[in-house]
Amino acid sequence: MGLKLDIVNPVLWEIGHVGWFHEYWTLRFSHGQSPLIARADDLWNSSTVAHDTRWNLDLPDRSGTFAYLANVLELQCEHLARCDFPNHARYFYQLAIRHEDMHVEALAYMRETLAYPPPRGLGERLAPAAGALTGDTDVPGGTWRLGATKAEGFIFDNEKWAHPVELKPFRIARAAVTNREFAAFVEAGGYRIRDLWSDAGWAWRERQRAERPIYWQPKSDQRWRWRRYDRTEDLQLDAPVVFVSWYEADAWCRWAKRRLPTEAEWEAAAIGEPSDGGRRLAEVKRVWPWGEAEPTRDHANFDFTYDAPLDVAACSAGDSAFGCRQMLGNVWEWTASDFTPFPGFAADPYQDYSQPWFGRRKVLRGGCWATSARIARPGYRNFFPPDRNDIFSGFRTCAL
Ligand SMILES: [Fe+2]
Repeated sequence: MGLKLDIVNPVLWEIGHVGWFHEYWTLRFSHGQSPLIARADDLWNSSTVAHDTRWNLDLPDRSGTFAYLANVLELQCEHLARCDFPNHARYFYQLAIRHEDMHVEALAYMRETLAYPPPRGLGERLAPAAGALTGDTDVPGGTWRLGATKAEGFIFDNEKWAHPVELKPFRIARAAVTNREFAAFVEAGGYRIRDLWSDAGWAWRERQRAERPIYWQPKSDQRWRWRRYDRTEDLQLDAPVVFVSWYEADAWCRWAKRRLPTEAEWEAAAIGEPSDGGRRLAEVKRVWPWGEAEPTRDHANFDFTYDAPLDVAACSAGDSAFGCRQMLGNVWEWTASDFTPFPGFAADPYQDYSQPWFGRRKVLRGGCWATSARIARPGYRNFFPPDRNDIFSGFRTCAL
């Protein structure tokens, strides 16, 4: 069951919930079947079963839970094998698969929160050293079309619809902020300098008594170490800092005289192209930062290729047109933007995906090593409260 915390679910509950979501939207909603377990909605519907009560339910045990998931999958496969598979059901299968992807990632950071061993069989443990990548790149101004168009494949409701955003020229870092760069802020006393923090950020820092990123241990013998899962490891200094809250990213920026990009800036740097001899943003949007080729491990570290962030100089084949590296994969990147609806937003059938969270969260972009390539599209908007430091979150910055 794991610890009872606001930021995690009981592990057993979360696994059952993934199966329930599949069953609810595919077998029941799309195909009209009746529930496989009569009380399933009272156990696993995240919209109606309050977080605090999830530890007190009469859940099936581990083998019963996995049997339920296997049963759902078998019935889904039977439907998918039929020639009369209804077209409207396609969306809900895609939704349920992506929902599972999100919970797979959540289970990975829950293992970190709970100090469990790393997930077995996922990711190569030995990430090749690639070193640092410093400096900014210029992105010209222009009109950026933020949001999805009807020509795109599967999208979430919060990406609807494309709308123009005017961007001024800006300079953005080619790489995310590294552990080495973040350590300099910690060593300069950044966590004790009130002026570097917003009011809400300082209140968070005081509440947490934060002195450094959550899993870092006090520096000793000239070395920074951190807890990873159930063990202690040396910090990889050229890898991006991860498990930092938006407040910490914001404070680092004030210290370094930098700022976070808006989500429109982030996206333009990731999938925009220059036109007019570099004076304007072109109208095109690339499919991926590097173009149209399907992602490989040379482009991006996601789908658990490695079970850790790579150094920021890795994955050079994945550079954007402006030379930004690792816009996808490795670590999620906090943006300056609040999570708000785009013009024309209307909730999709899974109504609680975006709507309840507008206005109270910050947008993250780009996915991390534990994100599936299905989720980590450049247009995908992740969103978390600014105090969350248990997720795979880092950041990259712009010049002031
Ligand atoms: Fe869920």
